Amino acid sequence: MNELLSPFPTVGYYGPEYFCDREKETETITANISGLQPTTLVAARRIGKTGLLKHLQRLLSDNYIFIYADILPTENLREFLNTLATCILNSVPEKTGIGAKIWNFIKSLRPLITFDPLSGEPQVTFNIQPKDSDNQVELLFSFLEKQDKRVVFAIDEFQQILEYPEKSTEAWLRSLMQQLNNVTFIFSGSQQHIMNDMFSNPARPFFGSTVFLHLDKIGFEPYKNFIINKFAERGKNIPETVVSEILRWTNCHTFYVQLACNRVFLNSENTIDLDMWHDEAKMLLDEQEYVFFGYRDVLTKHQWKLLRAIAHEGEASSLTSKEFVQKHTLGSPATVLRSLDSLQKKNLIFSQYNSNVTLYFSVYNVLFERWIQNQRI
Ligand SMILES: Nc1ncnc2c1ncn2[C@@H]1O[C@H](COP(=O)(O)OP(=O)(O)O)[C@@H](O)[C@H]1O
Ligand SMILES: [Mg+2]
Repeated sequence: MNELLSPFPTVGYYGPEYFCDREKETETITANISGLQPTTLVAARRIGKTGLLKHLQRLLSDNYIFIYADILPTENLREFLNTLATCILNSVPEKTGIGAKIWNFIKSLRPLITFDPLSGEPQVTFNIQPKDSDNQVELLFSFLEKQDKRVVFAIDEFQQILEYPEKSTEAWLRSLMQQLNNVTFIFSGSQQHIMNDMFSNPARPFFGSTVFLHLDKIGFEPYKNFIINKFAERGKNIPETVVSEILRWTNCHTFYVQLACNRVFLNSENTIDLDMWHDEAKMLLDEQEYVFFGYRDVLTKHQWKLLRAIAHEGEASSLTSKEFVQKHTLGSPATVLRSLDSLQKKNLIFSQYNSNVTLYFSVYNVLFERWIQNQRI
């Protein structure tokens, strides 16, 4: 693969040399796969679930047929089928023995195969009645079941199946998967409370069927060393103090760390100092200001006040306590709960447990959080 312009990509996966840490998680999921144990991978958005799945795909593709499917854009069972078939087709090169078998099988189902004009990758579309989709999905899985090579099927943003008009999808998929011995699944999702409920509520079909893996942020020290090394490899010297500040400013949230490092890397000469980083940070916020005003404009006064309170706390807990409500003049606990609900639905904040097992709330977008902290309004 060609060397990237910057060693800090903010979209996509480009191989182990651009990938920081995740050694333990890689080991855990690999062990789950060897033990035929399905895994549920959950974390907030932009922490690195997709990156980790692509990393596993890269590492395991010699030993397994590793299929990765992101179903976030799908809205019904037919689109689910099309996505699965497309991803199965793209998981193995056509020239290999298994690749040819996969192509022949998919073609035998008589879909329309087109090629993406940009990537050249094949896209599969079935022109069938929506009610026949489940049948075709069953055919795809039974084909995978018959392969000599073990199959790993990673389904990203899995909670999306709950949005389909076909309400029995969850139970149907579960029973389908129970019949497979040769296919091990990884279910990944960003909507953490929905994923938790799907897999740990005894009343739901997938209850207890997988091992949970909650993906935490990459550790401060490993990320710091990774960043310093990546700069050094390209002949740039970045002081540890600057890297530490970048990591603190971005709350170690993977996407924002990458974004900040990418900017500093691309806009710097060979030596970097704190002033330079401060200028970049300011520019990052200035560029987004228009978007942030837009966010603010769609909020009610109460919602905005609560969001601002959470931003100023960084990690805010006990939001309905007398102390928190008074400190930030939020009215009543009932008002806070209502605002909290809408902020969560708008994906402006997320909740998580910290190391003391206390539930806290934070602003999702780190740049937005920093921007609010800088406002005097
Ligand atoms: N371990 C990692 N090392 C370096 N960059 C990473 C790592 N994991 C993710 N990223 C980067 O962070 C961005 C956000 O990660 P992603 O995997 O898309 O998050 P999620 O799927 O949890 O929303 C990705 O585009 C990728 O460039
Ligand atoms: Mg993702």
